[in-house]
Parts: sequence; C-alpha cells; structure tokens
Amino acid sequence: MSMSTVASAPGKAILCGEHAVVYGAPAIALPLSGIRAYAKIRKCDHPLTIIAEDLPRPPLVYRAGEMDMSDPLALTAELAIDYLGAGSISGEIRLKSDIPIASGLGSGAAISTALCRAIALLRASEIPAGDLSKLVYEVEKLHHGSPSGIDNTVVVCEAPVFFIKDQRMELINIAEPLQLVLADTGIAALTRDAVAAVRRRRQSAPAATAAIFAEIGAISKEAKDCLEQGATKRLGALMIANHRLLQALDVSSPELDRLVEAGLHGGAYGAKLSGGGRGGNIIALADAHSVDAVREKLLEAGAKRVMVTIAGEGRRDDDDSD
Ligand code: MEV
Repeated sequence: MSMSTVASAPGKAILCGEHAVVYGAPAIALPLSGIRAYAKIRKCDHPLTIIAEDLPRPPLVYRAGEMDMSDPLALTAELAIDYLGAGSISGEIRLKSDIPIASGLGSGAAISTALCRAIALLRASEIPAGDLSKLVYEVEKLHHGSPSGIDNTVVVCEAPVFFIKDQRMELINIAEPLQLVLADTGIAALTRDAVAAVRRRRQSAPAATAAIFAEIGAISKEAKDCLEQGATKRLGALMIANHRLLQALDVSSPELDRLVEAGLHGGAYGAKLSGGGRGGNIIALADAHSVDAVREKLLEAGAKRVMVTIAGEGRRDDDDSD
C-alpha cells in the first residue's frame, strides 16, 4: 500500500454559541469538508522546509530551538516535531488552502491541523485526534488570545460537535441533512479582536453580558435537540434569536446584518453571523426549495462568495465566487 503524500483538514462553521462558548456556554460547530487546507509532503534530504503557497512569505526552514514562536507555522512545526520526539526532520511541505483567511471559517486551525498531519506523515507516523487537537489549540492561542477550543476540536474530528469548554465534546447525530448557505461579507476580521471586544463588554457590563451568554447557551442546547429530531423550522428560529443576541454583544456589522436579512428574505428558515463576527461569513439554513433563492438574494445583497453545503450527509460543497 502506498503512503499518502497529502494531509488535509476541513474548514468549520459555528451553528450557534460563538463568543458565549469562551465563557463556558455550549456551542455547536460543523465541519466544512468541501473547503480544506492541504499539506503536501515531498521526501528529500533538506532540513524541513514549509512553503505556504497562498501567502506572501519566504519558505520557512525549520531549525530546532531557533524558531520564532510568534509565527503560527513555526510554532505548529515546533509542537508537532516535539510531540513526535523527532529532533531533526527533513523533507518539504507545501501548504495550500481553499479556506478564506480571517473569515470565521477556521482557516488557522485547518492549516495547523494539516501541517501537523504532514509532519507526522514525513515520519511515517500519525498523531491521535485528542493529542492533535491539543497541539492545534496551542497555536489557536496565537490567533485568538483565549480560544474556547471549539475550532481545533471540530476541525480535527471533522464531525458536528456540541462543545462546552474544558469538557468532553459530544458528537451530534443530525437527523435530517441541513442545507446550509454560507455567504462572505468579504471583510477580513480577526477573531482575536472580536473576542477582546466581548471581554471588555463583559468587564463593563457583567450582569447584562452574563444574561446574554445564558440565553445563547440555552439556544445551543435546544438547537442540539432540533438537530437530533430534524426540527429544522425551530432551528432556524433559534439561529435568528442567536444573531440578535450577537448584535446585542456588538459583534455583528451592517454588512453581516444585510446578509442575514437577505438570506431570510430569500426564504431561509434562519440566518446568523458565524464565528467571531465583525466581518467574515453568515450562515443561512435553507431547504431544497429555497436554496437557490437564498443564494441569489445573498449575491444580490453583496456577498463576495456564496457556498452551499449539506451538513449531516457526508460531503458535498459547491462554490460560487464572484
Ligand atoms: C470562533 O470560531 C468562535 C469564538 O467563540 C471564539 C472561540 O470560541 O474561541 C468567537
């Protein structure tokens, strides 16, 4: 059997619970198996060299103990090599990703996961999911400051998860496949900044913020039941309520609100921002009848990229970039 030479990892979307999850509320995340980060390995005698094809940066040559740990790629390599007990390592890894950066779709976690997997492949080894998720979490701290751990968890396990920080995650069995439409504002927004803004809000208005987190947590719990029972209409209503609460936390934006309204106008059961907010993507819940109208309304409302994906039914994604 020939060994694979490409490792990969999916993007992700948060169905509900973002931000509140950082403070212990439950949240639900879905893998986006059709948009992925890839890490292709080539065996050679050179010291490990990582080439990020999409990024304007020189190749990173790994030298033990000399790496800049504020560089996510260098930190990922260091953590994976250390985990594997590899000391020195040779070979080339080329990274390429379909996942837009700073758009709430888990690009950082997917790249780190694919890179760790590729480094393990160079050693003809594998990193078990639980340990891999912990390594990627360490890199997420660079991106996000105080991440909940939901992104690394869903990206590594590539299944719908019901997640509570510092607890064992639960996989969700989705009863009825969901037609999801993701629409990108085209505005890059760093999750770290949105998370910091929510932290400041929590400090200045603790009771009001805690009440919002509690409502969001209740939404995630009910959304899990909806997913397990196929209650799509109710799930849509919960997504709308979740978006209103994210607006109250001030992590939405006029562009995100416009796309949410457009999705609803197109006949979606529900729509909300997904991820850190302030830019990035919205997620709309449609069905086979409404999906084309939803997609059209989103493009008309200025979405820079619209992607239709089905959650809970293996893999299928189409892409409509403008
Ligand atoms: C980012 O995908 C979700 C946030 O809740 C941050 C986190 O959980 O670490 C905004």
